[in-house]
Amino acid sequence: MSDASNSGSVTITLDGTNKSSRAPLVQASVGPAVADIRKLYGDLGIFTFDPGFGMTAACESKITYIDGDEGVLLYRGYPIEQLAEKSSFTEVCYLLLNGDLPNEGQLKQFTHDVTMHTMVHEQIRNFFNGFRRDAHPMAILCGVVGALSAFYHDSLDISDPRQREIAAFRLIAKVPTIAAMAYKYSIGQPFVYPRNDLSYAENFLYMLNAVPAEEYKVNPILARAMDRILVLHADHEQNASTSTVRLAGSTGANPYACIAAGIAALWGPAHGGANEAVLKMLGEIKTPENIPDFIDKVKDKNSSVKLMGFGHRVYKNFDPRAQIMKETCHEVLAELGIKDEPLLDMAMEMERIALSDDYFIQRKLYPNVDFYSGIILKAMGIPTYMFTVLFAVARTVGWVSQWKEMIEEPGQRIGRPRQVYTGATNRDYVPMGQRG
Ligand code: CMC
Repeated sequence: MSDASNSGSVTITLDGTNKSSRAPLVQASVGPAVADIRKLYGDLGIFTFDPGFGMTAACESKITYIDGDEGVLLYRGYPIEQLAEKSSFTEVCYLLLNGDLPNEGQLKQFTHDVTMHTMVHEQIRNFFNGFRRDAHPMAILCGVVGALSAFYHDSLDISDPRQREIAAFRLIAKVPTIAAMAYKYSIGQPFVYPRNDLSYAENFLYMLNAVPAEEYKVNPILARAMDRILVLHADHEQNASTSTVRLAGSTGANPYACIAAGIAALWGPAHGGANEAVLKMLGEIKTPENIPDFIDKVKDKNSSVKLMGFGHRVYKNFDPRAQIMKETCHEVLAELGIKDEPLLDMAMEMERIALSDDYFIQRKLYPNVDFYSGIILKAMGIPTYMFTVLFAVARTVGWVSQWKEMIEEPGQRIGRPRQVYTGATNRDYVPMGQRG
């Protein structure tokens, strides 16, 4: 470890022997210390078992901090609430990538560097024709982002800091363009080229909604809401998709391939697919009167039904992003003049019932970021199947920052978990005629 300090240790003793292993305690700048068990196998001949990695720190990072018990989320030390209120997504991108908030000149230069990469190679358009019109845009995003490495050969040398930087700009700039193209393809409209005079969020809304036949003006309220949604989703330390990006990157794979791997991991309903799943769930419940029956199903150990948008591996208190998302939801609906949104009423009723139910209280299950985000996005006219794509657009900067941090770490090694093998032991091959 490079910057973490050691203080104290834990000693693990193998019962029934006189063998022990001393694991130094590594202090985090904030949060619990970790036991460095790297000598464990050498000392005792055993590994640790931690399915789901709930207790295992796989890396050292300076990017994002979460205190799940207190509901705290910091990007580079700055509370998410302050960034959501006062910052912009582009500034947050700079912060996550570089470690500090930019001054005016730095932000101007960074914004310029990102916007200069918003277009994609014209030949990338051809990829889209290979997909069915009803392809899920996450499938398209995954494929086309992975294919970027075939177009941008001058940013594949991961040992060159300048090439890493250009790859970072390209990914942050091009993922929204590809995401919007995937959407346009799904509805049979022409692709809309990016506009570099618009902010990141404005340009994304423009590429999603504009058509060549008429002028399109971006609604500033929706652009602000989109910017905030992007800020809230920008990074979340070592979640499943980020860990996937790191694991892929640890092999030396190019950054475009790594981000495509992250997009694939994000797609699942337990992760980034949850925002889509929340709306599906609310649609299936139909009316608030059906909520108690649904909650009974969720609590039934024999059913696999989950309350989507609830629970989190790390937050055992309110997800601070969910609080901001709920407020933004009310603001957006008010600004759009939507007085009565049955989905929001149902979500609030669901939250009220769940938060007073012993099942959820005992398990510390609270609404997460995805519980309200879908309702805002729906109000903004974005179809459900695009929700996870939006999450991917926002998270790209987090993935890229984490990938860069890993590549730049001295002594970085390939990620390679161990296993508890419980299969057959060594046995001889049996010829076909002798098998039972
Ligand atoms: N509905 C009902 N029960 C739940 C839920 C839920 N949403 N989440 C957890 N539980 C129960 C779980 O069944 C278990 O019960 P028991 O102790 O009786 O076996 C207990 O709570 C502990 O849960 P867990 O499965 O050990 O928790 P985990 O850390 O492995 O899973 C999670 C975290 C987010 C995958 C899970 O809470 C979940 O599936 N939630 C719904 C999907 C969702 O909203 N995902 C978005 C996460 S936030 C955005 C992101 O980072 O992608």
